[in-house]
This record gives sequence, structure tokens and C-alpha cells, in this order.
Amino acid sequence: MTEPNTIRPRDRDAVLQALRTGVVPRTGQQHIQVGRANEVRALLTDIERVADGGSGVRFVIGDYGSGKTFFLHLVRSMALQQKLVTVHADLSPDRRLQATGGQARSLYAELMRNMSTRAKPDGGAMTNVLERFITEALNESKTSNQAVEVVIRERLDELTELTGGYDFAEVVAKYWEGHDNGNEQLKSDAVRWMRGEFTTKTDARNALGVRTIVDDSNVYDQLKLLAVFVRLAGFGGLLVCLDEMVNLYKLAHTQARNANYEQILRIVNDATQGTAIGLGFVMGGTPDFLMDPRRGLYSYSALQTRLAENAFAVDGLVDYSGPVIRLPGLTPEDLFVLLCKLRHVQASGDPEAYLMPDDGIQAYMAHCQTRIGNSYFRTPRTSIKSYLDLLAVLEQNPDRGWVDLVGTVQIAEEVNPDLEPIDGGGESDGWAESAPAASNGPRFAAALSVASTQDDDDLTAFRL
Ligand SMILES: Nc1ncnc2c1ncn2[C@@H]1O[C@H](COP(=O)(O)OP(=O)(O)O)[C@@H](O)[C@H]1O
Ligand SMILES: [Mg+2]
Repeated sequence: MTEPNTIRPRDRDAVLQALRTGVVPRTGQQHIQVGRANEVRALLTDIERVADGGSGVRFVIGDYGSGKTFFLHLVRSMALQQKLVTVHADLSPDRRLQATGGQARSLYAELMRNMSTRAKPDGGAMTNVLERFITEALNESKTSNQAVEVVIRERLDELTELTGGYDFAEVVAKYWEGHDNGNEQLKSDAVRWMRGEFTTKTDARNALGVRTIVDDSNVYDQLKLLAVFVRLAGFGGLLVCLDEMVNLYKLAHTQARNANYEQILRIVNDATQGTAIGLGFVMGGTPDFLMDPRRGLYSYSALQTRLAENAFAVDGLVDYSGPVIRLPGLTPEDLFVLLCKLRHVQASGDPEAYLMPDDGIQAYMAHCQTRIGNSYFRTPRTSIKSYLDLLAVLEQNPDRGWVDLVGTVQIAEEVNPDLEPIDGGGESDGWAESAPAASNGPRFAAALSVASTQDDDDLTAFRL
């Protein structure tokens, strides 16, 4: 296996910290990614098409723990590399594509908070995008000897043809005005409008002289405008990553659910007919979200016809050209490679500093299997986490060898939160209650307490 030799300390820490607290890393995924070559290739084609002014939509479907979130983050990193702007958010009961009580605006605002560019990969990039638009316009005004205002107006004209585009263009023009006059308030009001943070039309009119705001009824239209706008600012296009789509399937009211599916239908139609410009969607969800005939996307017949999978792609035959991408769970071989990569990352890329030989990793996997059965590789989050805890202990206690310790690692089985009753109200934390293992002495307490901070939904016991 070929691992990149150098691992930046920043990537190392981001990867290890995230995985030890049970979340998927936002950066550095390339160091630990296993498998998924075809899926990555398929999404790269989408990204290139979007960067070329086209559109695309994919549903990344897999069981709990199969790697949807990981894959979405990976795709997002690839898109940033290809000079797209990305926005991403998890759906939740309070964040939906379509709503009447503010939940759609709230999804939009979350997406905008997470807006990223290659130079600003951790979110909050709206101002950078606006500044870039201004810089591009200034450059063009120099080369074409036109007044900046004229250049800006001309560029914004492209927006005014789209639904809601007139006010969108007005707000960008206000940002320029603020920029030109040194009016910071005007600039920040424009940014707030773009980020969907105005909650009343009156406030928006007073601050910016526009009559509309981003609200529940126009989220998708705003995303389409934004995609055109980021291209005017010199980026390739916009990639929208939506995770935890299962929350739509969980909506108890048929009408509310269908209103959301109707938006998804618009997205699918625009993407397949090529009517959206520079806009791609990637949505992660479970098989139920897609296929459940009563509440899934398939319950909405127009979507069922459009998303039906290729009937020939069965028995090991694959087709990555459709809108649905299936993520099979990781295999034991994948997990082995992954644990090797993690060892490599932990050692900052120096094989001399590996804390365990391959045999140790095999022994750890065998131990996981006896403790939690096959879910150790199918839903590998806890196996990965405990493994990193083990490495941390080995690192800080060089007098203890892996042979002693591997068999003592306690790992609790993960429980899929989606298997819990749907209408139970509040979201469960989704983790199995596990009996804490008896502690075999205080020796490693310090090292282990590091692992159990920050994540109170993690009841995995790791005691030595
Ligand atoms: N292709 C992959 N390469 C490396 N690690 C992966 C891969 N897919 C998943 N993982 C890891 O497996 C665990 C579960 O993945 P996750 O994306 O959270 O699953 P899901 O979102 O489908 O429930 C995470 O710790 C993640 O980092
Ligand atoms: Mg996930």
C-alpha cells in the first residue's frame, strides 16, 4: 500500500482527534481513505461538470456506519481542490429543504455558515466570495477601461433573469457600495442577507432597500442564484452537501414530507435537464430514506421513476452513472488497510515510529470480532476509536507492549439510531448503553481520560 510520506501535523491532529471523539475528520481524509475508487471517480466527473457550468445530483446511500459522512467530506475536499465553493449541513428536525416554520431558512443559514473555499476550507467564506467578486470586477474595469459600477451592473445582470435574482443582485450592489464608501455596516448587512440571517422583510428593507429575504419558500432558488454568483466571482460553481437525509423520512406528516420531496424532485429535474448552472448536490441517506415505499423517496412516485436503479446492475455488476450511489459497508480487508493507515498517521508518516506491527493489528481485529462480532468492520466507528485509544496508551507507556494490551481493550457494539422508534419525539443519542468494564488499576487513567472528554454520547468503555 502506498501512503503519502509526509503528513502535516495539522492533518495528523485533525484526523486523530476527530476519530477519537467519534466524528468523521473534515480534513486529511486522503491519508486514511480506503476503497471507493469507482465512487470517487464518479463524483469527480460530477465535480468537473459543475466546474464547467453544468449540474449534477447524487444520492449516497448506505447503511448506518457504511461511510456516507466520510465520503461526503471526501467529495467536499475534492470539490474545494477543483475550485468549487462548497456548502454543507446535516438535515435535522429543525433543518429541512422545505418548511413553513423557519426550518428551511435555518438549513440555508447553516449551509451558509459552512460555506468554504480552498483558501478557507473551514467555513465562513461568504465575505471572501463577495470580496473576490469585487476584485474580479475591479480587474476587469481596469483592463476594459470601464467604470467599476458599469462592470458590476453588467455582471449582475446575469442574475436578474433568475427567480429572486433582482434582489440578490441589489444586495451584492449594496455590498459594493459599502466597500466603495467604507460603510462597514452596509457591507455586513449585505453579508447577513446573503447568509439568510434576516428574519423579517421590514428589517431587510430598512437596511438594504430590498423587499425580500431568504425564507422558507425560496431556499432552492437562492442556492441556484448563489451558484451563478460564485461563478461570477471566479469560482467554478457550488457544491451542496446534505447529510442525514433520513430526517426527511422521519417526518411524521405526509404533507411536510412530500413538500420536501417536491423540492428534491425540482433538484433532480434541474440536474438531469441541465437547467441549473454550476450547481451540484450530494445527499447522504440510508436505504430506508431512499426506498421505503411509505415514507422514503420512493413513496413519491415521480422520484421513484427518476431514481429507480439500473435493473441490470445486479449480481456484482455495477453502474455509477445513475443518481444513486450505493456504498457497501467496509470489508475486513478495508478495515485492516485503514488501521495500517491510521498507524502511519499516528507515527507522522515515519514507519520507524510505528507502535505496532501488522500482527498487532490482526490481533486487534480478531479481538474486536470476538467482542462485538461482524459489526466491528461494518460499523467501524468504535473499532477505530478504541484502536486509536490503544495507540495513545502504547505511545505514552513505552514499557508496555501491544501483546499485553490488545486483549484487554473494551469495545461496545454500536447501535444504529435509525432503528429506534421514529415518532419518539426527541432525538436519541443513539449509542448502546454499555456496562463499564472494571478498571484494572489506575495506571493508564491519565492517558485514557483524554479519550473520553468532549463526547458525552460515547459510552464505549476502554479500560485497562
Ligand atoms: N472509505 C473510508 N476510508 C476510511 N475510513 C472510512 C471510510 N468510510 C468510513 N470510514 C470511517 O468509518 C466510520 C463510519 O463512517 P461514517 O461516515 O460515519 O458512516 P455513516 O455516515 O454512513 O454512518 C468513520 O469513523 C469513518 O471515518
Ligand atoms: Mg453519517
